[in-house]
Amino acid sequence: MSLHHRHLLQIEGMHPPDIGAMLDLAESYVLLNRSGKTQRDLLRGRTLINLFFEDSTRTRTSFELAGKRLGADVINMSVSTSSVNKGETLLDTAATLNAMHCDLLVVRHGESGAPSLLAQKVDAAVINAGDGTHEHPTQALLDALTIRRRKGRLEGLTVAICGDVLHSRVARSNIHLLTAMGSRVRLVAPPTLMPSQAGRLGVEVFHDMRAGLEGADIVMMLRVQRERMSSSGGRIGLVPSEREYFRFFGLDAEKLALARPDALVMHPGPMNRGVEIASEVADDPARSVIKEQVEMGVAVRMAVLDILSRQNRRND
Ligand code: NCD
Repeated sequence: MSLHHRHLLQIEGMHPPDIGAMLDLAESYVLLNRSGKTQRDLLRGRTLINLFFEDSTRTRTSFELAGKRLGADVINMSVSTSSVNKGETLLDTAATLNAMHCDLLVVRHGESGAPSLLAQKVDAAVINAGDGTHEHPTQALLDALTIRRRKGRLEGLTVAICGDVLHSRVARSNIHLLTAMGSRVRLVAPPTLMPSQAGRLGVEVFHDMRAGLEGADIVMMLRVQRERMSSSGGRIGLVPSEREYFRFFGLDAEKLALARPDALVMHPGPMNRGVEIASEVADDPARSVIKEQVEMGVAVRMAVLDILSRQNRRND
């Protein structure tokens, strides 16, 4: 299979057969990882740089592990943007990376569009690991893989994406992927945390969580992203107190009972327990697939690195 792109910057615009093929390949990496084997010849001699301008534990380590399991030389670069001009840093960094002959560049940045800017300036294949409020494509792929493995399909499922949709790149990538693959997507959020254009995304919009959860196959919770509220200029008042938020938009066993009896609970992490999700559901092995999402993350990133490195080898 091949992607029609040299980079993985966003899910929007990806063709459903490419998404399906990517998930199939990731599926084979799940089995490889579970068998304890590696495939270190695939990326031998290739250099992967993890360039993170924003904090991350899960995503960075997941890419690191994925790269190492395929035999790449992996380098982690964390860059603080607090005291420097962001645009200048980005272009300087691009020049440095080109000089280092990096093959695969994984980028997380607080500004939407930063990975795509870098992709125009570097020779490496760029993978977006989360840019501002724009997209987080590998998260949507790992979420889809988790759902597909548990439910056997994506088509026709009702997926309720709940919480701080406004600031969530995870939500945006998931909306594009799930609607492309034929799922019915519902967005559930208070009006202050719902994007104004939500109705144009081919989804159903709910401001009442109980109504939004009714009959859902998948309940995908999102973190309340307070850091993006304060940085976007006086928008800290977008959410009431945490207790109040939890009462109306936090997932507990009682609200989950409105979804289908076999509904799965998901969360990309890090979780704010007691704010958007109660521990009783987050830790319930019968309903929660949150740990499985992490496992799928490594497999999906191996598949992405595999495909992009093959693709770019062809273009060499
Ligand atoms: C997400 C992110 O960074 O966008 N987390 C992640 O990738 N593990 C979601 C979040 O931060 O809430």
